[in-house]
Order: sequence, then structure tokens, then C-alpha cells
Amino acid sequence: MKIKSAEFVVSNTRVDQCPDSKLPEYAFIGRSNVGKSSLINMLTGRKALAKTSAKPGKTQLINHFLINKNWHLVDLPGYGYAKVSKSTKRTFQKFITAYFEKRAQMVCAFVLIDSRHEPQPIDMEFMQWLGEHNVPFCIIFTKADKMKPKALERNINFYQEKMLESWEEMPEFFISSATSKLGQEEILDYIEAINTE
Ligand code: GTP
Ligand code: MG
Repeated sequence: MKIKSAEFVVSNTRVDQCPDSKLPEYAFIGRSNVGKSSLINMLTGRKALAKTSAKPGKTQLINHFLINKNWHLVDLPGYGYAKVSKSTKRTFQKFITAYFEKRAQMVCAFVLIDSRHEPQPIDMEFMQWLGEHNVPFCIIFTKADKMKPKALERNINFYQEKMLESWEEMPEFFISSATSKLGQEEILDYIEAINTE
């Protein structure tokens, strides 16, 4: 898919205030600092569409972007950031879960996982929660440029083994780098294929 247009639509913390539209939407979610906003900029080829930061906890709202006038891309706050207060964490959790429970036009969630790390309980638990709530999701292993190819392969194989301990099959997954644009075509083509189904 070619990105012809990408526009910011609205930010909010309430799922009932998300755009009143039937357009299919795709949400990007994962731990704080995993690279959600950077990936969105890379996918859309816009340097600063989504705000990024070296400090975790940058995205604190549900952000809708309209792509090619016919689908929404959604940047969500990161989960599992230790330094935000407990009440902020609870608020995040509430609206993230409300978003996935209520947003019927959400077609697929992309769960971002830092390719450098071993499987983390918080990600496993989150995917478990998605599964229990019948939310379709894929995995994107991010920051691949920070790893040597062999180490990357080893980590991803290990991740698959871990997933298969609790899942019948490995969800669809992609490998990405916001700096080298690895994964851009595959992820956009995947979205396009679902949109034209
Ligand atoms: P929150 O909004 O805080 O939850 O973070 P986020 O998941 O949106 O992460 P963000 O895109 O803001 O990126 C966090 C940091 O990681 C920034 O310093 C980015 O420049 C860096 N980063 C993100 N993706 C990549 C990547 O693919 N490669 C490299 N080398 N750095 C990356
Ligand atoms: Mg962000």
C-alpha cells in the first residue's frame, strides 16, 4: 500500500469520544518506549505525525490518524511504565481496555515487542487478555537495527517457543526498524490485504 495521505484527527482518553466513523482501524500498542509512535511515523513516511520521545510515557492519549482517507491508525499509550503514578497507570489501563472492548471497528491490534528483550510477563499477560477478549492481534518485533542478525533470529525463535507454550500457534508477526524502514512494506501490505478482503 502506498501512503497518499496521513492526517491527525483527534486525541482523547475516552473511547466514546473516538471518531464517529465506521472506517476500519488498526491500533498500535505495547510497553512504553517500545517504539509505537516511531513505527507509525516510519509506516506513514511522516517524520513527526506521532510524537516520539527517548523518555518513556510520551503518548498518553488515544490518537487517531486518518490514512488515505479510508482507514484509521491509532497510537495508544504504552503499558507497564514503572515511573508513572499508580493512579495514572490505572487510568491508562482503564481506557486501553475500554478501547479494545468497545471499539467494534478495530480490525487488528499490533502488539509491539522490543526485539532485544526476552519475553516479558506483562506482554504475555496483555496478549492473553486480548485472546480472552477475542481481539485479533499480530506481533511486531521492533528496533531490529539494534541487534546483530544472528542474535535477532535467536531472540525471535526463543519468543516463538515461549508463545507456543500457551498458544496453539504463533500469531502473525513482523520485524521492524524505524531507522532502516524494515517491515514497512510487509505491515502496510498486510493492512491493505485485510482492508480489501
Ligand atoms: P511511549 O509513547 O512513551 O509509550 O513510547 P513509544 O512506544 O511510542 O516509543 P517512541 O516511538 O516514542 O520511541 C521511544 C524511543 O525509541 C525513541 O528514542 C526512539 O527514537 C527510539 N526508537 C523507536 N523505534 C526505534 C527503532 O526501530 N530503532 C531505533 N534504533 N530506535 C528506535
Ligand atoms: Mg508513543
